[in-house]
This record gives sequence, structure tokens and C-alpha cells, in this order.
Amino acid sequence: MRKNPVVRPFLKWAGGKRQLLPELTKYINQKSLKKCTYYEPFIGGGALLFELQPTRAVINDQNKELINCYKVVRDSLDNLIEELRKHEKHNNADYFYEVRDLDRSPKNYKSLSAVEKAARIIYLNKTCYNGLFRVNSHGQFNVPFGRYKKPNILDEAVLKSVSLYLNKSKSKVKILDSDFAEAVRDAKKGDFIYLDPPYDPLSNTSSFTGYDINGFNKDEQKRLRQVFDELTEKGCLVILSNSQTDFIMNLYQDYQDKIKVVKAVRSINSKGFKRGRINEIIVLNFSA
Ligand SMILES: C[S@@+](CC[C@H](N)C(=O)[O-])C[C@H]1O[C@@H](n2cnc3c(N)ncnc32)[C@H](O)[C@@H]1O
Repeated sequence: MRKNPVVRPFLKWAGGKRQLLPELTKYINQKSLKKCTYYEPFIGGGALLFELQPTRAVINDQNKELINCYKVVRDSLDNLIEELRKHEKHNNADYFYEVRDLDRSPKNYKSLSAVEKAARIIYLNKTCYNGLFRVNSHGQFNVPFGRYKKPNILDEAVLKSVSLYLNKSKSKVKILDSDFAEAVRDAKKGDFIYLDPPYDPLSNTSSFTGYDINGFNKDEQKRLRQVFDELTEKGCLVILSNSQTDFIMNLYQDYQDKIKVVKAVRSINSKGFKRGRINEIIVLNFSA
């Protein structure tokens, strides 16, 4: 399948990998991707998936609102576009807070269709401050209005291309909303897996846990390392990214000679809005 350059993330996502793409693709044999299944169990904005556009893919994220967006883009594109057109017409601060606060009333929120929910998330993502997805302890979206002059609420070209890709690849891209371990359970020898978990925080105060109400703590990092080992034993090709902390360097010391250090610009404070240059690592389970 030829690659379409307009296939790219339709949401801005914390930890988005667009800037690391040249580093990541260096280690991926794109020809061999044609024969295997590509797994991305922490899909977020999906920068690497869309860059590679593999023929057979399984994507997953624990964030159900996010995964609903992928499914709606794949299965109900026309209705989604129609819904986004409505949002586009009314965009202002009052309207933003009206749409944002729909999740304050669980009964009303439940009555929204999958398409309405996806359009709401895409609309909020394009118009909220810094384009973040962040929820409070009750799971309610809590990023303020962004006051952008011309937010690109409906990017039809990107949505159409992404939808086409998600439908075109062999038997469609499989989209799951479970835990990462469950999502890669069926991976077989020769399959390719990219693991991009929430990063280990550089300090106790730099933890950004806005992705979901469930945090990703050190025990979760250890559980991920076990999955990394299991996939290695099965003969899968795995690449993992994370921050270069002592904890992560220790956790992956068995793969020491296959760790690459890369520089990235990231949100580095507790609110996730201040930016700085930090070291990240890429761990491979194969020689490149
Ligand atoms: C660093 S982001 C991925 C960024 C993505 N690679 C991109 O380019 O935008 C990590 C993702 O992991 C998801 N996540 C957190 N805990 C998870 C779990 N236990 N299982 C699956 N996904 C999880 C979060 O919802 C978040 O979307």
C-alpha cells in the first residue's frame, strides 16, 4: 500500500511522537512491516502509526474517549464531519464551556451518540488551551478555553485520509480500548510492537498524569517491563520510548547495549504547559 502524506494525527496529544519520528523510523525495517502485524498499545495521537501506515495493525489506548474518536473516524466519517461543522459555527467561550461541561451531568452525557462524543473531543482538543486532553479526579474534562483566533476545528483532508487508511489496511485497523498487556496478548513471532507509555516523571513534581484518571506509576512501569520481556521471548520486535531517568535505565539494564539516547522538547512542569529540552531513551530488543 502506498503511503499518503496527509495521514497524520487528527488530535494533539501529550507525549506526541512527531518530533521523534526520524529517530524511531531509523530502527524500523519498513519492508518487513508488510508481512507482520504492527501493534501500538499506547496509541495517543498515533504519530508513528500514521507515519508507517502498516498493512495490518492493532491499536489500543486505555482512554475510552480517545479510542471512540478513532472508531468514529473509521466507521462514521460523514456524520462526524457534519457534527464538527455545527461546532465550527458556534465556537466562542460560552459555547466551549457548554460543550466542555456536558460531562458534568453523567445522565445527559450517556445519552450522547458515539459520533457526538467524538466530535466533542475533537472540538475541545482544537479549541482548549494548548490542545491537551486533561480530566479531573471525576473524569471531567477541565482544560480552559484556548482563545485561538482560527482553530482548525474541522480538518476534512486529514480526517478523510485517516479514515481511508483505517479502512483500507487489510481487514481494517483493529481498535481496542483495553490495558496494554491485553492489547498485545496475540502478538506472534516477527510482529512489530511500539511501546510509548506515559513517561516516568523526571522529578516528583514533574508528573503529568492528565491522560486519564488512572496514573501510570512505577509498578505500572515494572509491569510493562515484564510485557517487554515476554514479547522478546516470543520473538517479537519491540521498540519502547521513555524518559532517561535512573529508574528506567535500571529497569532496562538487560538491554543496555540497545538503548539509544535522544533529545526532545517536552512539557516539563506539573501543569504540562512549560516546555524544555530533555533526554529521552529508545530501548530496542533487537540489534539495529
Ligand atoms: C505517551 S502517550 C502516547 C503518545 C503517542 N505515541 C503519540 O504519538 O501521541 C501514552 C498513552 O498511554 C495511555 N495509557 C495509559 N495507561 C495505559 C494502560 N494501562 N494501557 C493502555 N494505554 C494506557 C494514555 O491514555 C496515553 O494516551
